[in-house]
Amino acid sequence: MPTPCIIPMSFALQTERLTLSMWEVDDAVWYRQLLAERGATRPTVKAARAKLRDLRNRADESGISLLTIRRRAEGDFIGYCGLIVGRSSWEEPEIAYELFRHAHRKGYATEAAAAILDAAIATHRRRLWSTVRAWNAASFRVLDKLGFERRHSTWDDRGELVWSVRDL
Ligand SMILES: CC(C)(COP(=O)(O)OP(=O)(O)OC[C@H]1O[C@@H](n2cnc3c(N)ncnc32)[C@H](O)[C@@H]1OP(=O)(O)O)[C@@H](O)C(=O)NCCC(=O)NCCS
Repeated sequence: MPTPCIIPMSFALQTERLTLSMWEVDDAVWYRQLLAERGATRPTVKAARAKLRDLRNRADESGISLLTIRRRAEGDFIGYCGLIVGRSSWEEPEIAYELFRHAHRKGYATEAAAAILDAAIATHRRRLWSTVRAWNAASFRVLDKLGFERRHSTWDDRGELVWSVRDL
């Protein structure tokens, strides 16, 4: 059967508790806080805003993106989830997610990632990948709940990286 044409993913999604949207430049404030919480070097406000402008441009070109996650009831930014080429490919991208610690263990990542999975199916893609560090139990649990299966591991200077796949 011929591969159907891949179309751009939707950059505006809603779930029962969450809204997923394209980044606004003003989200730089949250992006910097997420990096700081992770212990990463925090870019300047100017650099963070430029990064988000670039992310928006690349999303327009590629038709895939990370999206912000906000709680519908509270309206607050809690993290991001979406599709990236990452270590894989445009045809078979990676799913990625990261939430502020205060929002962990409430099912939000699973809820957001399930919406991204549906959005990926709607683009006519056949497969999604994920690469997760072997120690990241919470991330594997999210992948399990979404029906990803562990496929193989690769190693780099930071240790083992587990590749999981989800046929769509
Ligand atoms: C991975 C991450 C997004 C999960 O977010 P979340 O909203 O807490 O996820 P959910 O609540 O939807 O599901 C988490 C599951 O992992 C489980 N879990 C959480 N921490 C765990 C741990 N340390 N060990 C085992 N299971 C754990 C939860 O109990 C839950 O499973 P359950 O529904 O069966 O109870 C969040 O931990 C995070 O942002 N981590 C930092 C960034 C990151 O690692 N991103 C992935 C990079 S590959």
